[in-house]
Amino acid sequence: MSQYLLTICYLIGSITFILGLKMLSNPASARKGNLLAAAGMSIAIFGTIFLYKDIETGEYLHNYTWIFGGLLIGAIIGTLAAKKVKMTAMPEMVSLFNGMGGACAALISLVEFNHLSKEMLSNPNPLFIPHEQTKVLIIVIGLIIGSVSFAGSMIAWGKLNGKVKDMSFTGQNILNLLMLAAAIGCATFLVMHPEQSMLLYVILALSLIYGIFFVMPIGGADMPVVISLLNSFTGVAAACGGFLYDNKVMLTGGILVGAAGTLLTILMCKAMNRSLKNVLIGSFGGGAKAGVAGSLGGAQGHHKEISLSDTAMVMTYANKVMIVPGYGLAVAQAQHACHELEKILTEKGVEVKYAIHPVAGRMPGHMNVLLAEADVSYDHLLEMEQANDEFATTDVVFILGANDVVNPAAKSDPASPIYGMPILNVELAKTVIVNKRSMKPGYAGIENDLFFRPKTSMLFGDAKKVLQDLCTEIKNS
Ligand code: TAP
Repeated sequence: MSQYLLTICYLIGSITFILGLKMLSNPASARKGNLLAAAGMSIAIFGTIFLYKDIETGEYLHNYTWIFGGLLIGAIIGTLAAKKVKMTAMPEMVSLFNGMGGACAALISLVEFNHLSKEMLSNPNPLFIPHEQTKVLIIVIGLIIGSVSFAGSMIAWGKLNGKVKDMSFTGQNILNLLMLAAAIGCATFLVMHPEQSMLLYVILALSLIYGIFFVMPIGGADMPVVISLLNSFTGVAAACGGFLYDNKVMLTGGILVGAAGTLLTILMCKAMNRSLKNVLIGSFGGGAKAGVAGSLGGAQGHHKEISLSDTAMVMTYANKVMIVPGYGLAVAQAQHACHELEKILTEKGVEVKYAIHPVAGRMPGHMNVLLAEADVSYDHLLEMEQANDEFATTDVVFILGANDVVNPAAKSDPASPIYGMPILNVELAKTVIVNKRSMKPGYAGIENDLFFRPKTSMLFGDAKKVLQDLCTEIKNS
C-alpha cells in the first residue's frame, strides 16, 4: 500500500515540475509556478521520508534525526539567503546553490560506489557483474558531471562576488581537454574493473580540477551563460542519481533541469549572437576590450546634455514614451521610481510602454522580474521585436541605465565584439534621452555611438535620483 502511495506522490511531483516550469515562462504566472513546483517537491520529499521501504529488508527509513536535522539547517540557510539577496546578486546565489546540487550528486556517487563494492564482495556470482557495470557507469557519469558542476559553480560564485579573478595561461584549453580525457579514461577502466576502487578518487580529483580550470579563464561578465550551462550539468548529474535509486521523480526533475538549463544556455547565446564555444574560450567581457571609452567625454565626438526641466517638458508634451530599462536601473533599484514616472505621465495622457531586450541586465528575465516587483503591468512590457516595430511611432525613448542593448555598432561595425547581437532600434524614435552616470561603457566595454548622435541627449545621474526628481518636476509643472 505504502509503495502505491509513494508512486502517487512521485507522479504528483513530476506533474507539478512540468506545470511549474511551463508557468515560469510567463511573468504573470511565474510566482505561482514556482510555488506549485515547490509544493510538488515537498510532497515527493515527505513521501520518500515516510513511505519509502527498503526492498531487501522491508523496513521504513528510521534515521529521522539526521534527515530532519539536515532539512532544518538547509531550510533556515535557504530562507535567510533568499530574503537577504539583492536582485543584482541573484546570479551569484543561483551559482552557489547550483554548486551544492552538483556536490550532492557527486556525494551520491561516492556513497553508492561504496555500497556497490560491498555488494560485489558478498556476491561472487559472475552473472552479477554486467548489472554492476551499468551501475558503475552511472556512478562515474554522476561523479564527473556533479564534481565539474560543483567546482565550476564555486569559481563562478567567487568571480561574481569579486573574490576570484580571471586566470588563463597558454595551452590552458589543451590541458583542460587532457584532464577531461584522463577522467573519462579512468572512468572507462573503472567500469571494466570495478574492484579498482581507488580510481574513483582519481576521477573525483581530476573532475574537480577540470571544473576549476574550465571556468577560471571565462570573463566575469559571461558568467550567467556559464552558470546556466553548469545548471544543466547538475540536472544531468541528479538524473544519474534518480537512475541509480530507480527514483522516478529524481529522474524527471534532473532531466527537466538538464533540458531547461541547456535551452536557456542556447537562448542566451543566441540573444548575444555568440556561439557557446566563443563564450567558453572567447574573451568578450573578460579579456581585451575593443574601443573602451574614457570616463567622461568619449573618443567619438561630443555628446549633448539635457536638463531635468527640459526632459520633463519633452516627456509631458509627447504622445508616446518608450522606456528602455537596463542593468543600471537594477543597480540603482529605481524600478519603483520608474513606475511612478509611468503613472504620472499616463495621468497626463501620455502613452507609456517598456521595451525589454532579452539580455538587458545580468540574468535572463532580469528586467521583467524587476519591473514586476514594482507592480508595472505586464501589458506594458514589449518584447524586443514588438518594441522595434513601435519605435518609429514613438516620440521619446527614455533609456535608463542601458547601454549595449541599444548600441548600433551591433548592426554596423563588424569589428565590434557585439556585432550581430540583435538590439533595440531606439534611433528610429523622434528623440532619445539616455540616463546614466557618465560616458563609461557597459558590460561589453565598448563605446556607444548612439550617445553622440544628433537625436540623442544625455541626462547624467543615478537612475533613482534622476527619476525621483523628474517625477517632482513633472508634478509641479
Ligand atoms: P550594460 O551594457 O551593462 O550598461 C549598463 C549601464 O548602466 C552602464 O553603461 C552604466 O553606465 C549604467 N549605470 C550603472 N549604474 C547606474 C546607475 N546607478 N544609474 C544610472 N545608470 C547606471 O547593460 P545593458 O544595456 O542592460 O546590457 C546588458 C549586457 O549584459 C549585454 O551586453 C548582455 O549581453 C550582457 N549579459 C546579459 C545577460 C542576461 S541574460 N541578461 C547575461 C550575460 C550577459 P555608468 O557607469 O556611466 O552609469
